[in-house]
Amino acid sequence: MLRRRAARFATRTSLASAPNQGREIKSVAEAASAHAGEDTTRRDFIYIAAGAVGAVGAAATIWPFVDQMNPAADTRALSTTEVDLSAIVLGQQIKVMWQGKPVFVRHRTADEISRAQRDDFASLKDPQSDAERLVQEDGQPGRPEWLILQASCTHLGCVPTFVEGSSFGGWFCPCHGSDYDTSGRIRRGPAPANLLVAPYLFLNDTSIRIG
Ligand code: FES
Repeated sequence: MLRRRAARFATRTSLASAPNQGREIKSVAEAASAHAGEDTTRRDFIYIAAGAVGAVGAAATIWPFVDQMNPAADTRALSTTEVDLSAIVLGQQIKVMWQGKPVFVRHRTADEISRAQRDDFASLKDPQSDAERLVQEDGQPGRPEWLILQASCTHLGCVPTFVEGSSFGGWFCPCHGSDYDTSGRIRRGPAPANLLVAPYLFLNDTSIRIG
């Protein structure tokens, strides 16, 4: 009798305590999982922070080398040439040096301009309108009376001469007889292309910067 009562008590105790044990185990697992999540987030933050610091450090280390590759102010000044236009009379041209190369700065007459514009419609070996050849470095239109050309024949590099009354009214290359018109476009002879336009920009009404 006593043994049977003890057995019944033991069964009731074990049934009553089992659900609590389950809850306890579950809440421990949840806590562990939450802790693991916190750890992961903290670890991610540390990696990102370390990466960001690394990137900033690398940029700071590389910058002096990159900066060193930028041309110094005096080098930049040497790569451009400023020209005062006020002294160049109508129908005259001067030759200036830009980066060691000769450049023509021509003050064109009304007749030269109208001839150049008329010949936009001629049969051209290297088709280009006069207006396109005047465009400034920043994309703004140029001024028809000023033509800025590299003074180098596109055949073999001789310096052409402006010849009044020549067949096309512009430059003639004495080396092998190439003829350019009043826009510097090749019209006859062995040169394959127009005289190159030098990159330039009007700084004000009376001066330009080449380069
Ligand atoms: S170099 Fe000018 S025509 Fe040959």
